[in-house]
This record gives sequence, C-alpha cells and structure tokens, in this order.
Amino acid sequence: MTYKIAILPGDGIGPEIVTEAEKVLLELRTGFGFQAELLHAHVGGAAYEAEGHPLPASTLAVVRDADAILLGSVGGPQWDGLDRALRPEQGLLGLRAELELFSNLRPAILYPQLADASTLKADVVSGLDLMIVRELTGGIYFGQPRGIRTREDGQKEGFNTLVYSEGEIERIGRSAFTIAQKRDRRLCSVDKANVLECSELWREVMNRLAGEYPDVALSHMYVDNAAMQLVRAPRQFDVMVTGNMFGDILSDAAAMLTGSIGMLPSASLDKNGKGMYEPIHGSAPDIAGQGVANPLATILSVAMMLRYSLDRADLAGTVEKAVGHVLDKGLRTPDIAADGAQVVGTAAMGDAVIESLRELQ
Ligand code: IPM
Ligand code: MG
Repeated sequence: MTYKIAILPGDGIGPEIVTEAEKVLLELRTGFGFQAELLHAHVGGAAYEAEGHPLPASTLAVVRDADAILLGSVGGPQWDGLDRALRPEQGLLGLRAELELFSNLRPAILYPQLADASTLKADVVSGLDLMIVRELTGGIYFGQPRGIRTREDGQKEGFNTLVYSEGEIERIGRSAFTIAQKRDRRLCSVDKANVLECSELWREVMNRLAGEYPDVALSHMYVDNAAMQLVRAPRQFDVMVTGNMFGDILSDAAAMLTGSIGMLPSASLDKNGKGMYEPIHGSAPDIAGQGVANPLATILSVAMMLRYSLDRADLAGTVEKAVGHVLDKGLRTPDIAADGAQVVGTAAMGDAVIESLRELQ
C-alpha cells in the first residue's frame, strides 16, 4: 500500500517546520519500509501570493486525492488587510469545511523532560495527559446568517449564529466517546447550557449517546468553570468534548499548561478517518525564517497521522519514541529551553530526530 500524503507548508514558520517533518517521512520510507508519495501544494498566504486565493482549486484537487494531509501553519500580518474571503485563515477553514474534517483532536501532554517549562507548578501539571475533542465544521464559526449590517438607527451591528443540529452533535459525540474508550474512559462535555439553547440540545444528545457507551463515564461542565478547572486542577480531565469556539479557546489554554505549545500536534478527521495533521501553534511570523522554530509539534503530527489515518500505530510509536530520546539527550529549541539547556535550531532538532530514528531501526 502506497499512501498519498499531501504536504501544505503554508506561511510563517510553516515551511521550516514542515521540512523537518518531511525528513521524518523520508526516513520512514528509506529505513522502515513505509511507502508514501508526497504531494506538495500551497495554502494560506503562500497560496494567495502564488495563485490569488488562500485555497486554490489546484490545492483542493491534491488534498481530495490524498490519504492524509500534513499542514504547517497559515497567516501573517502582511495579509491582515485583505478581504476576509481572501485571508490565509480562510484556507484553513475552507479545508476543514470542504473535507468535512469535523473531529479535531488536540492532545495536551506534559513531557516529563519539560516539567519546568510550564508556568504552573510542576505538581499541578506533572503527568498531564488530556485530549480535547473539538467540533470543527459547525457552530458559530460557520452558522448562517452572519455579517455586519446597519440598523435603522444608523448604528452598525455585527452578528453570527451559533447553531448545531442533532446529527452534528451526535457525530462529534461518537468520536469523543470512542476516543475515551481507548483511554481512561472519562468524558467531560463542555457547554453553556445554563444560557444557550444550542447547549441545551448539545447536552441532551450527549446524555442520549451515553447510554450506548456504558463503559465511559460522562460528565458535563459549563465552559467558564471548565476554563477555571483547566488551570486549577487539569489532571481531573481525561477527554473533553466541546463545540467549535469553546474548543478553540480551551485548547489554547490546555496547550499552554504544558508550557510548550511548540510540542503539541493535532488531528482533524472526517467520518472515514481521513485527516489533516498540523501543529497546534500558529505561523509565528516574528520568528519566521530564522531557523529557530520548534519542529517537534509537526513531527509529532506525523506520528498522529500514522496512527489515525494510515493504520501504522507501530511507526507512530517509533516517531514518538525518537522525539522522547531527543528530549532525553537534552536538546531544546529556544521555546522549550530552560537555563543551561543545549539550545539548537529547527534543522538540528530535525536531524536529531532522524538520528534517533536510525538508532531505533
Ligand atoms: C485554531 C486557529 C484557527 C481557529 C484560526 C487560525 C482560524 O485558532 O486552529 O485553533 O480559530 O480555528
Ligand atoms: Mg485557535
């Protein structure tokens, strides 16, 4: 089986970190009998510059044909003035919508080697291993109607619509229950059911689903409390499931608990397990082109791809082990470096992972 992997470097540090992840894919090909064809395409600001649109038809053709997609990051201040429809972020939102990547998995894992990187006390975060399952193609991000209009009194008003159908809630719920079954079997559904009807329905559907997954303990939490609990006692959570916007916010908070947003991968899956894989962090325009960005989140995204879309959990484990070895050796990019660490750049970090892979071969 030869897999087709679409590679979309995007903007900012995207090309630098994706280059390192590609090295890993090539090493798996030469050293581990992994068969894959890599297809490159533009997205985001890079696509706008090349083809006048953040998600051109040529890119859509490549990603539709692929078994999995590896994405760097999109966005940068030079494109902030463009019409909303042409901004880099629309490339990302368009990919999610076009490919129906409704299930977004965002793990927050504290690597024991990096316990000191967190701004929280080590005893609060040590051992943290939580998975946020964020609905990614619905909710207020995509609800209609939306816009900015002028009222009768002459004032402008902006409006968006928060809407979820039962079917949308059910499929993200199933995704989360299934993941919880493979972990500690505790699922916390996060909503704002004390205020929003949309959340009331969300809760109703989650409760209904719970009957089908008796081995998973379902609980509910309001989003404001969930934000507080995440920084107060994050280890109480195993899997969290929530809507698009709450998930956007909570996953940034969860990522930062680990002190190393440069370490965290993510997966966005469709109903067949085809997925797009990307680091949780953004395009970091301030450090783009300097060769200092941390490529490990992107390399770990390759591991998630192997596990969730390509049915190679064995190789996923190998890549994760290689990353662990590199951390054990004390190598750190600046974002995860404590005093006295051996600080390396993007390419050296990638090379170190390759070296560890060879040792594991
Ligand atoms: C994310 C990002 C995106 C989002 C932006 C870049 C559109 O913040 O993936 O979390 O809001 O979903
Ligand atoms: Mg976000």
